[in-house]
Amino acid sequence: ARIDKGGHKHFMAKEIAEQPSVIGEAIRHYLSNDAAHVALPGDGLDFTQIDRLTMVACGTAFYACLTAKYWFEQLARLPVEVDIASEFRYREPPIPAKTVALFVSQSGETADTLAALRYCQDKAAQIVSVVNVPESSIARESDLALPILAGAEIGVASTKAFTCQLTVLLMLALKAAEQRGTISPERLSDLLSQLRALPNTLNHALDQNAATERAARKLAEASDVLFLGRGLMYPLALEGALKLKEISYIHAEAYASGELKHGPIALIDKTLPVVVMAPRDGLFEKTVSNMQEVLARGGKVMLITDAAGAAEAVNDTWETIVMPQVDPVLSPILYAVPAQLLAYHTAVAKGTDVDQPRNLAKSVTVE
Ligand code: G6P
Repeated sequence: ARIDKGGHKHFMAKEIAEQPSVIGEAIRHYLSNDAAHVALPGDGLDFTQIDRLTMVACGTAFYACLTAKYWFEQLARLPVEVDIASEFRYREPPIPAKTVALFVSQSGETADTLAALRYCQDKAAQIVSVVNVPESSIARESDLALPILAGAEIGVASTKAFTCQLTVLLMLALKAAEQRGTISPERLSDLLSQLRALPNTLNHALDQNAATERAARKLAEASDVLFLGRGLMYPLALEGALKLKEISYIHAEAYASGELKHGPIALIDKTLPVVVMAPRDGLFEKTVSNMQEVLARGGKVMLITDAAGAAEAVNDTWETIVMPQVDPVLSPILYAVPAQLLAYHTAVAKGTDVDQPRNLAKSVTVE
């Protein structure tokens, strides 16, 4: 079938808007008939026989892995190592017995990721992949390939593939937690029902389009932007900064909020917008105090939160983007949407080539 923009100005806008429906499809695909468990294809995986998970990827897929580390560790109590494929493949890392090596790739053809997979295969690890293209090299060379079902992604900057990767990785972590007995049946069924409701919640996040567009017009004036987040929001801050630099060519970097004092605070002044991602989770107050450190130094804060009004500091922000409430475990999937919209609208305001940013390729099949 011919792929068109479906009435949107860019493929990226279309792919951002498609997320509720493709994520809904991915969720339905991985739920058992009674919707009470996660079901994996074929023989699946026995997480009780696994001592360590090693996750390897490039670019946006790497940030999906970084997010999933929190899920596998917290929900399934499974030790996780995460690495960039180009570093992993040449470091000659030891691969202990009972390791599952998990590769995440939209295209399934990224040269470094494929080479890292072959390295792990050589060391007799069990190979699992999370891919968008089921016929790809990475899928074919895996013992178990889990499709993300995002459909064709045309925009060079990944959007719906990222959130579908997150969705599948979260379901895999829930499967691991159930098998390992590290989650109560009540908590599992609560998270699965919130997952089923997620497409609807994502639609509410998309309703913030106008607010992010207004915020983006301000970001378009900046030459540098800092993203901050803690816990599950830290990898998302990295992804938000990556999206912004990829398509708007504005220099952006991300820090874990707790690292602010260890360097980037020296940069704070009124010319450096700071995007803070802070859902009301267990770390919220700590992030708010970092935000106050920025405000006290004349910094401009763009806050993305579901707790507007709850914090005094919100009154002093430059912009606040209000998100629907969701269990903190699911927040990375939801908060990806404003991160994508911010980058998108900033690029549109700057007039860059959103779908085909300069110097970038959709799939990097050479080193
Ligand atoms: C390129 C793309 C990114 C993507 C990365 C990894 O850099 O521009 O959007 O995240 O490759 O690609 P993969 O297909 O392995 O997910």
